[in-house]
Amino acid sequence: MYASGWLYSPTMSAFPEALALCWHPVAYSHEVTDKPFATTLLEEALVIWRSADGAPHAMKDLCIHRGTALSLGWVSGDELVCGYHGWRYNAEGACTLIPQKANPTVVPTKARIQRYACMERYGLIWVLMGEAPRYALPEIPEFENGEWKIVNTGPFTWASDASRQVENFTDFGHFPWVHPGLLGDVARPVVPEHSVEVRGHVLHYTVVRPEAPNSDDFKVFANEQTVKPERRSRYELHLPYTIALRLGWGGVKGMVYFFASQPMRRNQSRGYCIIGRNYDLEQPDSVLQGFEDTIFGQDQRIVESQRPEQVPFDLADELHLTFDAVAVNYRRAMHAQGLDYYPHLDEQDGAV
Ligand code: FES
Ligand SMILES: [Fe+2]
Repeated sequence: MYASGWLYSPTMSAFPEALALCWHPVAYSHEVTDKPFATTLLEEALVIWRSADGAPHAMKDLCIHRGTALSLGWVSGDELVCGYHGWRYNAEGACTLIPQKANPTVVPTKARIQRYACMERYGLIWVLMGEAPRYALPEIPEFENGEWKIVNTGPFTWASDASRQVENFTDFGHFPWVHPGLLGDVARPVVPEHSVEVRGHVLHYTVVRPEAPNSDDFKVFANEQTVKPERRSRYELHLPYTIALRLGWGGVKGMVYFFASQPMRRNQSRGYCIIGRNYDLEQPDSVLQGFEDTIFGQDQRIVESQRPEQVPFDLADELHLTFDAVAVNYRRAMHAQGLDYYPHLDEQDGAV
């Protein structure tokens, strides 16, 4: 059913092969310590763990012996130990030791589990389930030059598809309605004109839009104007589920929002929102984290209510107007890259 790009062959996979050929975030770096970490990516249970040198590794979370979740086990040096009968696996996924045998290190070659490419960047662990990546990660020099303060917010686990979570992050029209006084001004709801340029798998667009003055509860932005403040937002939407957003207010103060959504299951996503700033370096992280908990909480109830749960990639399924240019281009570009899928249509056909 799938070309060889998949390193595993889920008989009931809900996703196109192209998604397996993209890097996806699976955890914040700080979530993976000296214990195995369980997660799900594209409907597959994964275990993430670190060898003695700190390098992260990703494997199918399923012991070949009796199907136990390896994430229930523990790490010993450079090996992952199953919690049921103590079989050991190295970072390549090969079993190295079966304690029940008289010769425990003589191991059948079939005793191995699928491993996936895994790397760490921007304070996140990334996994690739296919053989070779189609796209590189976005470049965020502000996160690596040591001059910007970086704050991790979330993660935000929603009962919605990653496509809906990403699209919400990039939607301007809802700010005055869902986040009045925090991100938008209900007296100025008009979406300014903007155009979207699609270059390969990246959508580029810039918008100068009205925003609310800084709230008393969360002084997180650098807009000093209290009357009709405006914000310049320069977006890069990297298909399928990653956004780099740079904010400015006309001066040297700037902010970078890096948002990436993990497609866990068809209707479950986990968003990582990493914020960099070159001002207010002393402000405790808890201020931005509290602000984003509020914003994402306001969005969650809206997005989880959307039907179908996945973005409908057929433009005829919704009503798009000119100010929805980003949504329209996102659907078109996902389709052009083979990253779109239509489970709600399968369900209608009874073919799930
Ligand atoms: S189930 Fe893992 S060692 Fe037996
Ligand atoms: Fe929002």
